[in-house]
Amino acid sequence: MCYYLKLKYFTLHGPLPGMPPQFLLGNLAQSGLLFDKASLPEAHIAFKQRYGDIYQFWISSTRLIVVNNLNDIQHIFTHRNIYDQGDIYVQKFSIVIPHGLISSKGAKYKRHAGLTLPLFRRGKIVSNFDLIVDCVDKLLIRWRTKSPQHVHLDIVQQSQNLLLAIFGLIGFDYDMETLDNDNDTNKNELTKALQYFLSNFNIMLFSPKILSTIYFKLSSQYRQSQKTIEQYFDRMIKQELDNGKELIAQRKRTSLIASLVGSLQQDEEMETNKSEEDRKGLSRNELLDEMRLFLLAGFETTSTALAWFIHLMSKHPQVQQNIKTELSNNNSQGLLSLDRLDSLVYLDCVIKEVFRFCPPINGTVRTLTVDDRLPETGAQLFRGDQILIPFHSLARDTRYWSIDPELFYPERFLGADKDHHPYALIPFGGGHRQCIGQDLARFELKVIAARLMQYVTFGDGGNQVNSGGHLSKLTIIPKHVGVTIDFDK
Ligand code: HEM
Repeated sequence: MCYYLKLKYFTLHGPLPGMPPQFLLGNLAQSGLLFDKASLPEAHIAFKQRYGDIYQFWISSTRLIVVNNLNDIQHIFTHRNIYDQGDIYVQKFSIVIPHGLISSKGAKYKRHAGLTLPLFRRGKIVSNFDLIVDCVDKLLIRWRTKSPQHVHLDIVQQSQNLLLAIFGLIGFDYDMETLDNDNDTNKNELTKALQYFLSNFNIMLFSPKILSTIYFKLSSQYRQSQKTIEQYFDRMIKQELDNGKELIAQRKRTSLIASLVGSLQQDEEMETNKSEEDRKGLSRNELLDEMRLFLLAGFETTSTALAWFIHLMSKHPQVQQNIKTELSNNNSQGLLSLDRLDSLVYLDCVIKEVFRFCPPINGTVRTLTVDDRLPETGAQLFRGDQILIPFHSLARDTRYWSIDPELFYPERFLGADKDHHPYALIPFGGGHRQCIGQDLARFELKVIAARLMQYVTFGDGGNQVNSGGHLSKLTIIPKHVGVTIDFDK
C-alpha cells in the first residue's frame, strides 16, 4: 500500500528536473521549509540554482512546476483562457474560506468579482487619503511616548494594527480600535483572532487537505477565533443594514460593505436552485467569506510591506534622507496633499524597490485547462498541471536586472533598470487573477510612508535584533526587526 502511494503520489513525474519527493512530505523537508530552516524564497532560489529555469517542486503530494523564464511567464499570464486560478489556492483556501473570490472559478468568480472589483479602482480609493493620514497620526502619537533609544521589536504587529484600522474603515466603515489601545501588547480580540488564523496558515498550506480540515474542525482555539471574527462581522453587517435600503443602494458604488450587504440574496433557496450562470447576489455564507477574505488580504499583505519598508529604512539612512529631501523640496510647510503625494517620484521608486527586494507574497499558481507547450523553454505541460511563478526568484535574477539585484537601491528605477522587463517585478501577480487590491495597497503604502518620513527617522536597533530574514506565513514577514524611532519635529 505504502509502495503504491509512494509511486502514485510521491514520485517525480515526467522529464522535468527536481528532487525526488519524500513520502508524505514531498520536498518540504529537503528544501528546509519544514521546521522553518529555510523560507519559501530561499528554497526556490536554491532549487533554481540546482535545476535551472523550470523544475518540479512538491508540497506534500501536490506537484508544482516552477517557471522562471520571463517569456514563458508572459505566455502563461496572457493565455488566461487556458491558465486558470491555481487548484492549490482553490483547495487550500476552501478549507477556511470556501465561498471567497480566491477559491472560486468560472461563473462563480465572475459573480463575486462583479460586486467587489470596481470598488478598488484608483478613482474610488483616493478619497481615503485623509482617513489614512489620521490613522498614521494616531500611531505617531503612540510612538512619541517612547524614548528615541527605545528599540521597537513589535514593528510587524504595529504595522498590522495600523493596516487593520485603515482597512476596517475603508472596507467596512468600521472602527476596529486597533490603534486606541495605549499598550504595546495587543489586546484587541479581533486582531488576536486574525493572528491566530494567520499563525495556522502554514498548516493549511503545507499539509494534505484532509489533515488540515480535521485539525481546523478539532481545534477549539480555531473555532473560538472564527466565532470572534463572525461576531465582529455581524456588528458590521448590522451597522450597514441600519442605514436602510435606500442609502445602501446609493453607497453600493463606493463602499465595499454596502456593495456586499446590498447584494444579499432575498431568497437563498431560490438562488441555490438556479444554475451558477443565472445566480445573482450573495448568500449569507458567501458574504461572510468575502468579508473574511478581504479583511485578511486587505491588512496582512500591506502591513507586511510596511514592516519591510520600516526595516529597510532603518538599514538605509541615506534613502530616508533622500525621501525627506524630496518631501521638503515641495516647499509646502509640512502639508501633505494628494497633489503633493503624486509629485513624490523618488518615494515611488523606494516603494517599488521594497516590493522588488521583499515581495510580501512569494508567488502565484495557475492550473492548465488543456495541454500546452511553453514557448521559451519548450517544456511540454499537461492539462491539470499546476504552474508556480516565484516572484522573489525573478526579482533577484541577475539576467533581468542591470544593477546588482542583491542591492537595495531605489535609484535603479530612475536609471539602468528603468525599463526592466514588466514580468521581472510582479508582486501583485499577473493576468486575469492578479491582485484586485493593488491600487489600494500602493496608495496606502505611499501615504503612510510619506507621513512617517515627515516626522520620524528609523534607526538600526543592532544586528542582533534587526537582522531581517524571512518568516514564511501567508506572507513573507521580516523575521527580526528592531528599530529605534527618532522624531525629527
Ligand atoms: C502589498 C499588498 C498586497 C500584495 C503584495 C498582494 C498580492 C497579491 C497576489 C500576489 C495575489 C495573487 C495574484 C495572482 O494570482 O496573480 C493577490 C490576490 C488577491 N488580493 Fe492582493 N495583495 C496585496 C493587497 C491586497 C489588498 C489591499 C486587497 C484587498 C483590499 C487584496 C485583495 C486580493 C484578492 C481578493 C485577491 C484574490 C484575487 C483573485 O482570486 O482573483 N490584496 N494579491
